[in-house]
Amino acid sequence: MARIAVIGGDGIGPEVVGAGVRVLEAAARADSSLELEFERFPWGCEHYLKHGRMMPEDALETLSSFDAIYLGAVGWPSVPDHVSLWGLLLPIRRGFDQYVNLRPVRLLRGVGSPLAGRAQPDLLVVRENTEGEYSDAGGRLHRGTPHEIAVQESVFTRRGVERIVRYAYERARERRGLLTGATKSNGISVTMPFFDEIFREVGEEFPEVEASLMHADALAARLVLDPAAFDVIVGSNLLGDILSEITAAVCGAIGIAPSANLDPTGEHPSLFEPIHGSAPDIAGRGVANPAGAIWAASLMLDHLGHGEAASRVLGALEETLAGGVRTPDLGGDAGTEEVTRAVVRRLLF
Ligand code: NAI
Repeated sequence: MARIAVIGGDGIGPEVVGAGVRVLEAAARADSSLELEFERFPWGCEHYLKHGRMMPEDALETLSSFDAIYLGAVGWPSVPDHVSLWGLLLPIRRGFDQYVNLRPVRLLRGVGSPLAGRAQPDLLVVRENTEGEYSDAGGRLHRGTPHEIAVQESVFTRRGVERIVRYAYERARERRGLLTGATKSNGISVTMPFFDEIFREVGEEFPEVEASLMHADALAARLVLDPAAFDVIVGSNLLGDILSEITAAVCGAIGIAPSANLDPTGEHPSLFEPIHGSAPDIAGRGVANPAGAIWAASLMLDHLGHGEAASRVLGALEETLAGGVRTPDLGGDAGTEEVTRAVVRRLLF
């Protein structure tokens, strides 16, 4: 029995994870070896407005007894984004040492891509998830004066870089044996050369992987022009964040892309989510694309050791989209409910 903590969050978050939970329940009904138990937690911006916190003080303790966390999205216009992010998502990622942010990218059948007619991408972006540029070390001086200064430090540790780079080499070895490290050592002259050095050092343990470093700006352009050239890409927290968003866009729409926040040691639960945000512009209208959340649910099943069920879920989603049941962001006219029902039907019958 796998116990899953469900945090819908804000905006379309609860709509899309609601869809994902129904799909997971259908997958479990179709497969007696798959036993899942869900517990929902109403945390997010509404919780913040009522209680002054995005989630209770003992939230991590509560979550630590679960096998995985399934999250929708957090953020709402009435709460500053840095408050919502630092109050929920980042404490979970850091508190549970989920140092790998994994974003698989593949063009699903039935999804149009700006790259139509060219070789299609099938790649993994591995983003460092606990340190780097997203640190809260820094501050502002002389606020409100013409001399105002803002300083923010990037924090790169040998342990942090080694472990993410090693994880990426391992994934590349299992796939097509090609690894690209995203760097920016031409402009960022201390931390990036440090990253590059460790990338090369760890590479000595993986002679079978063809590894190279590429400046993130050139890499971004190449991803748009020729994404099929890549297999695994590894980057720091900021560079990995931007590059994975580009790859998501190249694959059709932000609403279909999933991500996993992993503690590969298994000591803490890992977290699975669609990459999109709470989409206030379409929240409550029943048109949110549940594909990213359903693909994230498939990643979660895979992580929990149910690889076959994971493939079935992704297959059912892909057949649904290829069959023309698509939300408006993909050029269709189906709602969240219709897409969800179609995926559930394919799993059950
Ligand atoms: P967003 O991803 O919420 O929306 C960007 C655009 O994509 C919007 O036009 C939206 O309608 C569309 N979109 C997103 N997901 C969709 C889906 N599943 N189906 C159809 N259309 C979809 O990004 P935005 O507007 O920058 O952020 C809104 C809020 O979400 C902010 O508060 C932000 O901080 C938060 N956010 C949270 C994330 C998380 O929880 N991991 C990630 C990104 C943003």
